[in-house]
Amino acid sequence: MSDLDLDRRTGWPPGLRVLLDIHPRESWPNAAGIGPTGRFWLQRHDLFRELTQALAMAAGELREGRLDAARFVPWFRPRMGFLLQELHGHHRIEDLHYFPVFQAADPRLARGFEVLNADHHTIDRAIAELGTASDTLLHALAVPADDPAAAVAGLATTLPAFLHRLLRHLDDEEDLVIPLLIDRGEGPLGIG
Ligand SMILES: [Fe+2]
Ligand SMILES: [Fe+2]
Repeated sequence: MSDLDLDRRTGWPPGLRVLLDIHPRESWPNAAGIGPTGRFWLQRHDLFRELTQALAMAAGELREGRLDAARFVPWFRPRMGFLLQELHGHHRIEDLHYFPVFQAADPRLARGFEVLNADHHTIDRAIAELGTASDTLLHALAVPADDPAAAVAGLATTLPAFLHRLLRHLDDEEDLVIPLLIDRGEGPLGIG
């Protein structure tokens, strides 16, 4: 276990902040280096954040009785399926296509991309757990004789924990990648 594990770290150590210190988040909105690829990629991250947050809120409302199953199920089912599938695909593209390019571009950051790759494995296991918790809940809600309370509580607990991990990963990934895009430019990196 390392201090850089997803569940332990609170950001990057100084050695992995070399470009972030030069290009802090406040400078990103006006940075010329972020082109269509970087903007699209940031939009995907925001979508994953918002969707996971909305799903966690809906599960909480279901548990508290402020949302009934008839309204919850048709809203929840497609959005959860979309999130889990898109997130898994997003990780694959990063691992196979983008991270090798970024690691080669600046070896000082290589360790950070190894950590992010390990995050993907952790999150992919969490995606499987979340899929199971979601299926269990949807099944319990579909069988009138079942008491869904345990399944509702299970999902309402799993989702905020998943969100917490996801936010850590997305923030740290952006803190590593965006300063590199600004520093080098998408075209010269070969991803524009
Ligand atoms: Fe990622
Ligand atoms: Fe990502």
